Amino acid sequence: MRSTFILGSLALLQGTVAQQITEIWQTTWDRNSLLTFSAGSVNFASPGTAASADITVDDTSVYQSMYGFGASLTDSSAQLLSTLKTQNSNNYWALLDSLFNVTDGANSAGLSYLRVPLGASDFSATVYSYDDTSGDTGLGSFNIDAAPSYVFSTLTDILSVNNRLNVHVLPWSPPAWMKSGSTMEGGSLDSQDVDTMANYLLKSLQGFQSKSIPIYAISIQNEPENSDATYPSCSMPVATEAAIGTSLRSLMDSNGFTDTKIIGFEHNWSDAANYPVQLMQQAGSAFDGVSFHCYEGTVQEMANFTSQYSTKEVYITECTGTLGSDWWSDIKWYMDNLFIVGPQYGSSNGLMWNLALDGNGNPILSGSDSCPSPGCRGVAQINNDGTYSVNQEFYAMGQASKAILPKDVGGPFGKRIGVSVAGSLGWSLIVGAYVTARSSSSDPSRYSLVVLNWDDSSSTTFNPVSVDATIEFKGMQASYTFPVGVTTLSWYD
Ligand SMILES: *[C@@H]1O[C@H](CO)[C@@H](O)[C@H](O)[C@H]1NC(C)=O
Ligand SMILES: *[C@@H]1O[C@H](CO)[C@@H](O)[C@H](O)[C@H]1NC(C)=O
Ligand SMILES: *[C@@H]1O[C@H](CO)[C@@H](O)[C@H](O)[C@H]1NC(C)=O
Repeated sequence: MRSTFILGSLALLQGTVAQQITEIWQTTWDRNSLLTFSAGSVNFASPGTAASADITVDDTSVYQSMYGFGASLTDSSAQLLSTLKTQNSNNYWALLDSLFNVTDGANSAGLSYLRVPLGASDFSATVYSYDDTSGDTGLGSFNIDAAPSYVFSTLTDILSVNNRLNVHVLPWSPPAWMKSGSTMEGGSLDSQDVDTMANYLLKSLQGFQSKSIPIYAISIQNEPENSDATYPSCSMPVATEAAIGTSLRSLMDSNGFTDTKIIGFEHNWSDAANYPVQLMQQAGSAFDGVSFHCYEGTVQEMANFTSQYSTKEVYITECTGTLGSDWWSDIKWYMDNLFIVGPQYGSSNGLMWNLALDGNGNPILSGSDSCPSPGCRGVAQINNDGTYSVNQEFYAMGQASKAILPKDVGGPFGKRIGVSVAGSLGWSLIVGAYVTARSSSSDPSRYSLVVLNWDDSSSTTFNPVSVDATIEFKGMQASYTFPVGVTTLSWYD
């Protein structure tokens, strides 16, 4: 009786004790703050007048799980990182720490999703697959070590910094001998090699397993609607990807890969209503979801897929920065299309293209036309003198990560929840909201907002205006002034 009474009053106390915004990460347009942490003490209290930007968090609407933000560890990125390790190992480990440390509160972008090509891409030193023996349909010559050793050594080092890393693998092309024209650079898969290709992908998973690299997901083909004769690529009709996926799913299930997901499509938003929808019609049970690239169409078009397949997952797996573009304009676009609005349209992640390149967008495969001048920009820039820097992509993803990384070591990632913005200045804030559960259910959940204030009049006279906002949560209200930039706020309840 007595203990019930005490528990009851405790619950009452917790219900009335004000929540407090305690963690604030900020990146401002002028770069005075760059993923800068400050300990907040902003209280939620009984609601007063709503500000002209009024954010309402709807914790009763819980949507998809998030699996993290990140990039692709291309051969080129791994080569640069590996060279840096030899040249200046302090800088190497400091860079890995600032990219991948997911410990709560770490001074890091906390990247936790890495896409890794199986064989050569347009960012490789040479064109190769794991089995370049012509006609080897039994795959007896399959050799995972056809990949440069720096790919696996770098991946192993990244995993030593971040053991929550979600690794997603996929080929840019089947081996040349399986294709029309017998080249990895463009063309398509010969129809008689569907099962051989499924087997090749299984062997690729086993190859990574032999290197102790756990695989979160695999895709069948990068950009199946793109055949380009200057770099590894392959056009693959829906029916072929569906057949490989079906065959691979059953091979994976009978070889210990039941938990590894198969993700389809891997191409432009603009075709969301077509290829990925047809893929689900033809082989829905083999695929856990589909992934999109940003190169054509809009993020909103993902709804053309999710409206028909609401139980399938959606990912944004590739978008590249371009050298020389404006830092703050890029951050606005990334938040508005990839890292805040992408999840609002269902995406469980958000990835850029190369994890690391040099200041000229190199090294790129000789002859590739995939990143015309001025070239592609990596998330990090590694220079040949052993120094490095991080680009706008790093800050945009870091701000998004802080809202979804596990609070506890080994704890769950965050889930997106409902949020809306009202008021005459509501347009100036683009907001994503997340809840992160705890390892112990008696610990309070973390609630986080990722907020872009883009009220900068950039189309006329540039004039950044801070926005006074109110935040409504469970009948309580907090006030916060958002500078022009990206702010990630967290509180516990
Ligand atoms: C990650 O960050 C935490 C917290 O700042 C720190 O204690 C830890 O040493 C870092 N880990 C690595 C591998 O750098
Ligand atoms: C989609 O993306 C690729 C980039 O790989 C591009 O070359 C292609 O033309 C785009 N458009 C369509 C409609 O596929
Ligand atoms: C796809 O989405 C866009 C933007 O949301 C919409 O305008 C268009 O009608 C949709 N197309 C199809 C085929 O559903």
